[in-house]
Amino acid sequence: MIVLGIESTCDETGASIVENGVRILSNVVASSADIHERFGGVFPELACRRHIDAIIPVIEEAMAKANVTPDDVDLIAVAKGPGLVGALLIGMNAAKGLSIAWKKPFIGINHVEAHLYAAMMDPSFKNPFPALGVVLSGGHTLLLKINDIGSYEPIGTTVDDAIGEAFDKVATLLGLPYPGGPHIERLSREGNPKAFSFSAGRVKKNPLCFSFSGLKTNVLYAVKGQNGQGKTEIVNRADVAASFQETALRDVVLKASLAIKNFECRSIVFGGGVCNNQRLRDLFSETLPEMDLFWPPLNLSQDNAAMIAGLGFQKMIRNPKGDLLDLEVQTRIPIA
Ligand code: KG4
Ligand code: ZN
Repeated sequence: MIVLGIESTCDETGASIVENGVRILSNVVASSADIHERFGGVFPELACRRHIDAIIPVIEEAMAKANVTPDDVDLIAVAKGPGLVGALLIGMNAAKGLSIAWKKPFIGINHVEAHLYAAMMDPSFKNPFPALGVVLSGGHTLLLKINDIGSYEPIGTTVDDAIGEAFDKVATLLGLPYPGGPHIERLSREGNPKAFSFSAGRVKKNPLCFSFSGLKTNVLYAVKGQNGQGKTEIVNRADVAASFQETALRDVVLKASLAIKNFECRSIVFGGGVCNNQRLRDLFSETLPEMDLFWPPLNLSQDNAAMIAGLGFQKMIRNPKGDLLDLEVQTRIPIA
């Protein structure tokens, strides 16, 4: 089955052709991160304008690179949410339009679930369920139990900022470009992770939930002083970055380790842009040497349409009807 995947939840316009859920024939991503850089975060209207300009050329490029025609496509899969409403509508309407024009079925896909499926597209992936799913992205910080593709139980989430958002905001505080995660990782290599004793939040009612707003305030005070009004001595930015990164990532490893015990998971499946972070990968390998760890390939950890097409195939073989054309986008979707 040849699936055209379409992704437009945030600031990446993506289209991809995937065969039978795993074989990626093309994966095209156009990012508008450059225009958001001076705002230190995604500016929704500007992201939408870029999606409008990019969506058709990106789809055409994905089809051309995969050497497929509309006749070859068996299914159109589109990210239906969660995400920015205007951005989602552009991908959704493109998918519906093509579905009508080409007379092909279409299906809406949960973007967060697709982040986890990205790691399952690796040929080395074998059925390790029940698994702990760990989604670490700009919009999500989630622990969940995966019983099977499509069957999830929520374990923990963030009560304030997503982890990637915290990386991006700390990067802005340190004068680094947007998106800040990779810059924080790079700068951290030159710093001492023990220079500052920062701490990640504990959520009283649920020890498996996350809170990063206090950690962000730790960084603000370290950089700008207690009242955020500017500081006299100059701080070593690499030490701040390294201390922040180490604290945030160790918090994820700690809570994931606890979740594995409590929920008797046999492996961990990771998803989301923060999973590109090598320190995160090393910390998990050191802490859980016996555990099967399934990371997304580096080109599939950030937003892309291959994961949407791949999961579209999986959903279609389970429910061959697909979705009706009145399917609405959803800015928020509970995964379980
Ligand atoms: O999954 P993604 O592309 O988009 C969302 O669905 O949110 O994730 C983007 C996030 C950004 O916050 C970015 O700073 C972060 O992933 N990120 C990283 C790294 N690479 C990307 N965070 C930490 N270390 C990295 N190497
Ligand atoms: Zn994402």
